[in-house]
Amino acid sequence: RTWLHATTALALAALLGACGQREAATTAAAAAPASAASAPERELVVGTDAVYAPFEYQDEKGQIVGFDIDVLRATAEAAGLRVRFVNTPWEGMFNTLLQGDRDVLVSAITITDERRQTMAFSAPYFDAVQLIAVPSASKVAHFADLKTLRVGVQTGTTGDEAASRLMGKTNARLRRFESTPLALKELESGGLDAVVADNGVIAHYVANNGGTRFRAVSDPAFVPEQYGFALRPADSALRERLDAGLKAIRADGRYDAIHTRWFGPK
Ligand code: ARG
Repeated sequence: RTWLHATTALALAALLGACGQREAATTAAAAAPASAASAPERELVVGTDAVYAPFEYQDEKGQIVGFDIDVLRATAEAAGLRVRFVNTPWEGMFNTLLQGDRDVLVSAITITDERRQTMAFSAPYFDAVQLIAVPSASKVAHFADLKTLRVGVQTGTTGDEAASRLMGKTNARLRRFESTPLALKELESGGLDAVVADNGVIAHYVANNGGTRFRAVSDPAFVPEQYGFALRPADSALRERLDAGLKAIRADGRYDAIHTRWFGPK
């Protein structure tokens, strides 16, 4: 009985195995074309330094929101890609990409030749330039006026580069902060005479601080900058898809709607 039982079990197993195999083969054959066209791909992990309003910041509920977030979300959607945003401090952010902990970075990142040595960039999605925030009563009229003043920047940003060029990299009056809001807080408390940062962030700060306590100073000496999504150089297929997505949302009005939503009508 035991032997019979075992044989029956074996036969059953063989039968089931064969069926299973056939079924698997059929399923695979049927699924192959569909999966190539629409299988859900791995979710892309997007790093963003969410203390940079209005580009990326956390709302009252702790959700990461902002212009950059909307642009990347729409771009990914147009490209058929799924994304998940992870708050990632600016310092060390580029390494998280290169080490594979993040797949994409969106963080008002200016495309520069130096950064292109280690990272790849999407097509530009936003034009920017440096701007200076000063107390309203300040006499600062030009960038060169900052040469002898106490200046705050966010470490490793293009604002840091510009101020370093003007004042000297090791100048003690040039103070570096881990985030732009921290530099602006120091300006508020009187510890600094000026902060140099991206125009969108300075304009947002001036507008949201009563509009009378601080003002923004522009200078033609600042070179035009462009933001891009940062990617690993090897991910050229991903870059092409994001570029196609960006092109699509620029063409169908979605990009303009996002721009208007965050910056008002052009
Ligand atoms: N655009 C500047 C740069 O690329 C500043 C970017 C800072 N972004 C941020 N989310 N903290 O250097």
